[in-house]
Amino acid sequence: MPRRSSATVDLPQLIIIDLGSQYSHVIVRTLRELGYRSALLSPAKAEKLLSQYKPKGIIWSGGAACVGDAGAPVPPKIYLNDVPVLGVCLGMQYLATWLGGALSKDISRKEYGPREARVIAKHSRLFAGVPDGPVLCSHGDSVAKVPPGFTVTAVSDDCPILAMESETLPIFAVQFHPEVTITTHGKRLLQNFAADICGCTVDWRPEDLIAALRKEIVADLPKNARVVHGFSGGVDSTVIAALLSPVLGERLVALTIDGGQFRTGELERIAHTATAAGVQSYHRLDVRDELLNALGPTTDAEAKRRVFKAIYGQTIERFGEQHRATHFLQGTLATDLIEAGQLGGASLIKSHHNVGLPLTLQQLHPLRHLFKHEIRDLARNLKLPPAVCERMPFPGPGMLVRVFGIPVTAERLSLVRKADAVAEAVLREMGVLDGISQFVVALCGATTVGVKGDEREYGYPVVVRAVRTVDFMTAESVELPSPARKALTEALTQIPGITRVFFDETPKPPATIEME
Ligand code: XMP
Repeated sequence: MPRRSSATVDLPQLIIIDLGSQYSHVIVRTLRELGYRSALLSPAKAEKLLSQYKPKGIIWSGGAACVGDAGAPVPPKIYLNDVPVLGVCLGMQYLATWLGGALSKDISRKEYGPREARVIAKHSRLFAGVPDGPVLCSHGDSVAKVPPGFTVTAVSDDCPILAMESETLPIFAVQFHPEVTITTHGKRLLQNFAADICGCTVDWRPEDLIAALRKEIVADLPKNARVVHGFSGGVDSTVIAALLSPVLGERLVALTIDGGQFRTGELERIAHTATAAGVQSYHRLDVRDELLNALGPTTDAEAKRRVFKAIYGQTIERFGEQHRATHFLQGTLATDLIEAGQLGGASLIKSHHNVGLPLTLQQLHPLRHLFKHEIRDLARNLKLPPAVCERMPFPGPGMLVRVFGIPVTAERLSLVRKADAVAEAVLREMGVLDGISQFVVALCGATTVGVKGDEREYGYPVVVRAVRTVDFMTAESVELPSPARKALTEALTQIPGITRVFFDETPKPPATIEME
C-alpha cells in the first residue's frame, strides 16, 4: 500500500509530458487512483513549470507522431539523469534515440493491440512484482538497439525490446501502455515508479472530490450568475446537478433538449432524475422536427454529430436569452475532450456535441478531468439512486448515431428505439446485463429479405453489441451466452420491419463502441 502523506502538496509530485497520445489522461487518472496527484502538460508548458521546481518524477507519454516528424511534440530534456523519468511508447523512442540507441522503422515490427509481455529482468525495480501478462501495444516504430548502459527488461514475441532501463541512471522505458486496463499489471508498474522509484507520498483522496469540485465551480461563478445546465439524466449531468443544486438553488436551470435521440421512456425517467438530484427549475424543449429536417439525407456519423451540435447550441442560446442566463454548464468528461481532440495533443477521434459550442454564454465543464468510473464513485458518494449511479452510458446524439448507413427518419428512429427496448428487456430478464458496461442496438442501413408467416418481407437487420470496459477508452467485447443470443434474435425479429439480427464482437480498438 502507498504511504500516506501528512503534508499538503500543492505542486504535483509527478509531471506527465503530453506527447499526444489519446491515453495521456489515463496516466493521470491511474496515478490518481493510486493516490498521487500529477499534472499533464504540453512540452512547452512543462518546460516552463519545471524551470521553477523539481518534481519527484516525470513521465513522457506516448503519441501518434514519430521521432523526427516535422511538428511532432518533443519532450524537454530538463532533469533527465536527475529525477526519475519513465518513457512510454513514443517517450521510449525519444529516450532510445537521444541516449545513443537506435529505432527501427521495420513495419513488420508494428504492433497494435494486446500482446503478451515477458519480464526478463527480474531485478528491475520498475517490474518488481509485475508478472508476465497482456499489455496494450500501439506503435509503428520500435527500439532496435538500446542505448549504452541500458538493459532490456521485457520482451514480446514480436518485440525484442519491449522495455528497457538504465543500469546506472533512473531512466526507464516501456513500449506498451501501462495506463490502460488491457495491460493487466500496468497499475502495479506505475505504482512501482511513483512510490518506490520516485518516492511519492499519497496526496489524493477520492473523498475530497465533492468539496473540491463545489469550491472550484463556485469560484468560477460570479454571485449573480444564472446557470443553464444541459441535463440528459445520465450519470455525468446528474452528478453536476446534485453537486450544484444545494449551492445555486433556482439559479441552476436544468434543460433537456429532445431531438428524438432518447430511448423509450427516457424523457419521463429524466424528469424523475432531475427531482432526485434536487433540481428546482427543470425544462424540456422539443426540437425533433427541426433536427430531422436539418439532418436531411445525412448518413455520416460525424456529419450527424455536427448537425446535432448546431441545433443543440442554437437551442441553448435561445433558451439562455429567455432565462437571462450567464453561464452554461455541462457534464463533459475527459474522454469526450480527448476524443474531440481538445485535451492535450490527442487527435480528433469524433466530435462531441458538448465540446466547443459557439455560445455567447460562458461555458463550464467542471468534470473535464474525470473519467466515467470516477463519476460513478462521485454519484455514489452524493447518494444518488443506484439506477443513476450504475446507468449505462448513452451517447449524446443517442439513437441518431444508431441508425447507420441510411438517413435518419422518424420511422427508423422509432424502430431502433423499439429494438433497443426489446433487447434491454430480454437481457435484463436473462440476467446477463450485469457483466456488461454498455450494449448497443443499431439499425443497419440495408434491407434484407426475411420470411415471416410464409411471406417474404424486406426489413432491416439490427446489430447487437455488448462490451465490458472501465473507462470506455478501450473495451473488450462480451460474448453473449447462446440462449441470450437466441432469445434476442427471436424477440427482435418479431418487431415488424426487422428481419435479421447480427452480433458484433469486435473489441475497441480496433472498433469503437458505437456502430458507425
Ligand atoms: P466509442 O463509440 O467512440 O464511444 O467507442 C465511447 C463512449 O462514448 C459514447 N459516445 C458518445 N457520447 N456523444 C456522446 O456524448 C457522441 O457523439 C458519442 N459517440 C459515442 C459511446 O456510447 C461510448 O459510451
